[in-house]
Amino acid sequence: MKYSVEQIMTAAYPVMPVLAVNRVEDAVPLAEALKAGGLTVLEVTLRTEAAMAVIEAMKTVEGVIVGAGTVTNETQLIELQRIGADFAISPGATPRLLEAGKAVDFPFLPAIASVSEMMQGLEMGYSSFKFFPAEASGGVAALKSFAGPFPNVSFCPTGGISIANFKDYLALDNVKCVGGSWVVPADALNQQDWSRIEQLAREACL
Ligand code: 3PG
Repeated sequence: MKYSVEQIMTAAYPVMPVLAVNRVEDAVPLAEALKAGGLTVLEVTLRTEAAMAVIEAMKTVEGVIVGAGTVTNETQLIELQRIGADFAISPGATPRLLEAGKAVDFPFLPAIASVSEMMQGLEMGYSSFKFFPAEASGGVAALKSFAGPFPNVSFCPTGGISIANFKDYLALDNVKCVGGSWVVPADALNQQDWSRIEQLAREACL
């Protein structure tokens, strides 16, 4: 099944775990733990050698939507289309990447950190963006300011978001979901502590 970017952003509980997974064998139990905790839209960053294989493995878990993060070039987008990723997210945007994101058959969510970057994306036909790095780029106050001149633009802020502040973001009309790595700490993943990860996911859903 193919999703639209709006469906990805509102498909489930609006917290998207941002994952960096080194071992392919962790993919399925990790996706199962997050799903059991209530989080079913997963961003697997292309920051590890295993990332593409992890996405393929997670896609065998029923009921989860699995996309890639840290996408920076067209070659990665083409490979993600080949393996059937559900979506892709970038940490920034270049004209070439914005163009390439239009040509793939799944939603691409480019990131912006400023109004001018957003306007370049709007010119290319995008109206949903990751806002990255959210906390360092003005956080909730910046998103509130964006809503005045650009009321129809939607955001998924990530970067510096945690259990302590994610609800402040979700309270904004122009924020459809938030992303963050806090749900899956590296030590919990290294120790394959699936019950702790499930519990952290559950806490993000409270
Ligand atoms: C991302 O790639 O979206 C961010 O690195 C996630 O940021 P965080 O680690 O501060 O949650």
